Amino acid sequence: MKVNFLDLKSQYLSIKPEIDAAIQNVLDKTAFAAGPFVKEFEENFAKAQGAKFCVGVNSGTAALHIAFMAVDLKHGDEVIVPANTFFATPEAVSLAGAIPVFVDNEALYYNMDPSKIEAAITAKTKAIVAVNLYGQPAQLDTIKAIADKHNLLFIEDCAQSHLATYKGKSTGTYGIMGCFSFYPGKNLGAYGEGGAVITDDEALYKKMMALRDHGSAKKYFHDYIGHNYRLEGLQGAILNVKLKYLAAWTETRRKNALLYKLGLTGIKEVTLPTEIDGAYSVYHLFVVRVPRREALMQFLQDNGIYTGIHYPIPCHMQKAYDFLGYAKGSFPVSEKYAVEILSLPMSEQVNEAEIQYVCEKIREFYK
Ligand SMILES: Cc1ncc(COP(=O)(O)O)c(C=O)c1O
Repeated sequence: MKVNFLDLKSQYLSIKPEIDAAIQNVLDKTAFAAGPFVKEFEENFAKAQGAKFCVGVNSGTAALHIAFMAVDLKHGDEVIVPANTFFATPEAVSLAGAIPVFVDNEALYYNMDPSKIEAAITAKTKAIVAVNLYGQPAQLDTIKAIADKHNLLFIEDCAQSHLATYKGKSTGTYGIMGCFSFYPGKNLGAYGEGGAVITDDEALYKKMMALRDHGSAKKYFHDYIGHNYRLEGLQGAILNVKLKYLAAWTETRRKNALLYKLGLTGIKEVTLPTEIDGAYSVYHLFVVRVPRREALMQFLQDNGIYTGIHYPIPCHMQKAYDFLGYAKGSFPVSEKYAVEILSLPMSEQVNEAEIQYVCEKIREFYK
């Protein structure tokens, strides 16, 4: 049996007539850059996420960057981010001219550890960015309370947490802005690049709408130095189709997570993910921790099963951040997990037989 890490082709085939019609419609109307298909998607996505406004942009990185530009992050400002996240989180802080300050992740839930945030706050700290990693909400209420106490901005990176909720409220709505990615492999993926920022703040919304379009709200009148971060019409139309299926796909991911948990129970070498109380986790990734990871990966691959590592090097250890001067050992949880974590095939396309096969092979490896 072959179990791909991701199967975008079968997802496409499951909704092909609708997708093909949506693409043809954009071609017929030639609304390619932002425009009506993007606007319709923005309205639908804001609603799905429980926010008032949504700004569609052309990647998750652009979403983070535009959010940081909108709050006027300045050279030398510090922004607190988790040590284990995709590189784009601190990268966007750097793009905005500020300095990422890393905080270790929790041992149990893999998100930024709220108990370690206050020690990282200095007179230069301007914002805290929580990442809802692997689709699991961070402790958003606690982190927001810390931000409020210290008069800091609170922004969420929701690139992996579409439709996730924490204590009944959507991820992306605890912060003043929630930044999403629609990279093809995400829970809601474009057929190319895409991203969005949601917010309830009308002034920020208007500013970001201008920032994504060269700082211009009215054609050829430029109020800010912005960017070309417009979401394409084709991506808006495709995302609009896929958004209708997202709730059902998310339920399937959750069912698949449960199947993995049942199938892997009792293998003492495998540490399963723990869902934090109050979370509706959307399992962008199903991440276990295991000894002898590389050998297991190879064994699985030899048996047709493809896995991933998210992420093999914590951000503070990346070469690009050498200049920040973090020493090895700065963030023990993230560093330890980087050599133990393994992402198993997870999507709404993986079926029960495939999950059982993956679990059987892992059991066989540790026998
Ligand atoms: C946590 C996180 N932040 C930001 C990004 C950046 O998104 P994009 O790849 O769409 O620029 C990603 C996506 O890879 C991500 O996983």
